[in-house]
Amino acid sequence: MEFLSGVNQHPTVSWRTRLCKLEETPPQSFQMKFRERKMLTGDYLPISVATLLPAKAVGLNLFQKEQETDRLMLYRGADYPLHMEDLDRLRDRGVHLLYIAKDSGARYQSYLRRLLNSSPDSPSVTPQLKVGALNEVVLDVLRTSFGSRDVLDAVTSIAALGTLTADIITRDEFAVSDLFRVLHHDYATFTHSTNVAFYCGILAAGLGYSHEEIERITTGGLLHDLGKLDIDERILAKPGKLDELEYRQVKRHPSLGFRKLAERTDLCEGQLMMVYQHHERLDGGGYPVGNVGENLHPWAKICSVADVFEALTSQRPYRQPLTRKKAIEIQERDSGKSFDPEILECWKSIILGA
Ligand SMILES: [Fe+2]
Repeated sequence: MEFLSGVNQHPTVSWRTRLCKLEETPPQSFQMKFRERKMLTGDYLPISVATLLPAKAVGLNLFQKEQETDRLMLYRGADYPLHMEDLDRLRDRGVHLLYIAKDSGARYQSYLRRLLNSSPDSPSVTPQLKVGALNEVVLDVLRTSFGSRDVLDAVTSIAALGTLTADIITRDEFAVSDLFRVLHHDYATFTHSTNVAFYCGILAAGLGYSHEEIERITTGGLLHDLGKLDIDERILAKPGKLDELEYRQVKRHPSLGFRKLAERTDLCEGQLMMVYQHHERLDGGGYPVGNVGENLHPWAKICSVADVFEALTSQRPYRQPLTRKKAIEIQERDSGKSFDPEILECWKSIILGA
């Protein structure tokens, strides 16, 4: 598992020295250092509060966004442990994200990988914490792979992530509600792909697929939008409606992704069809070919349900995310036309039961 390299690295900063909280008076040194020094979020990375382990220091300065100004203030110094009551207080205040300096990203990833590799018997590492860590690690690998556009070299790492994800989501203690608490819902391609992969894996498990198939389906979800790497980013990020020419460009992404991956012998037909057919519809009204239901691979039908659900429940420049219930209602209108009714019904029972 190449992407897990660095797991055994020890943090370079000792765990306990200082405490600095917004709610309390910071130590003098921090007051001096950070007085009047509020930072814009552009230089910082968001991290999920759900990945923070009580009673252990992350080894990173943690910053919190001021609601009124969108600027960052130091929340906690690098060496001081967080306690459960601190995390509870953040959650009670609706604070789900903190920030770290961009150059601390590698150390945060190292911390997450140690969490993921910790023993299942470790009482402090709850299933929710592991799911949170997994989400951030998957995001990081996709962000790096998609960002560098060197995805072909990264497919092996992505497949390892699919395996790890399947291992966690098929455990008895895994709860879908835990997952919803940690997912991000911005509209970056890697965020979308991460969420779709989780949904595909959960849906595949609900439909009774084997563990090995769940691994492959989850990996297919991570790769399904690979072809978007070759679409002009200005089109993908355009707020509002696309014109005909732009839409025609976007509709090329399943074919482009398929062409990139078709030669890979480590991907199976179902995974390639998830890439190629996830925008097809049962009634033949989809793209790139307009194939009808009987010609669509079952894994592509799973991906289609997960893909549209994710799009409806994520933030868009022109609208707020829909609730999960509302998203399912909208998808049900297209049951039998766009979506396979049996798969959609299974997804509905998973979502509404979470
Ligand atoms: Fe897509």
